[in-house]
Amino acid sequence: MEIVKELKTYTEDNTNGVKIWFKAARVIDFPENGGACVKYKGLQIAVFNFSRRKEWYACQNLCPHKMQMVLSRGMIGSTTGEPKVACPFHKKTFSLQTGNCLNAEEENISIFPVKVEDGFVYIGFTR
Ligand code: FES
Repeated sequence: MEIVKELKTYTEDNTNGVKIWFKAARVIDFPENGGACVKYKGLQIAVFNFSRRKEWYACQNLCPHKMQMVLSRGMIGSTTGEPKVACPFHKKTFSLQTGNCLNAEEENISIFPVKVEDGFVYIGFTR
């Protein structure tokens, strides 16, 4: 099952905390209220500058619905205070806090911690 294998490459176990803070790009490289994709060890990571909320989020770029690398181009918004991204293809929506799919029976996505320091965006990984 190639699809399951690909999804598993994004599975993160954050229970032991971040081991590596990856310097992704400058803050100014990300559009306001939008996303961009960065690569880390062969993974595509969608990073969102949710400037309306003054928050940053990161998740896998891979949409589990049709296994498309598109989430960084999705629309971001909020549902009852919860930040979310909608896939640009079929509008499956995922929480940027938990990775849960909010509007369909769909696999969850992996999310990653983000921090901003000295004008740079860092993404936390466990490996
Ligand atoms: S590919 Fe993302 S919702 Fe269909």
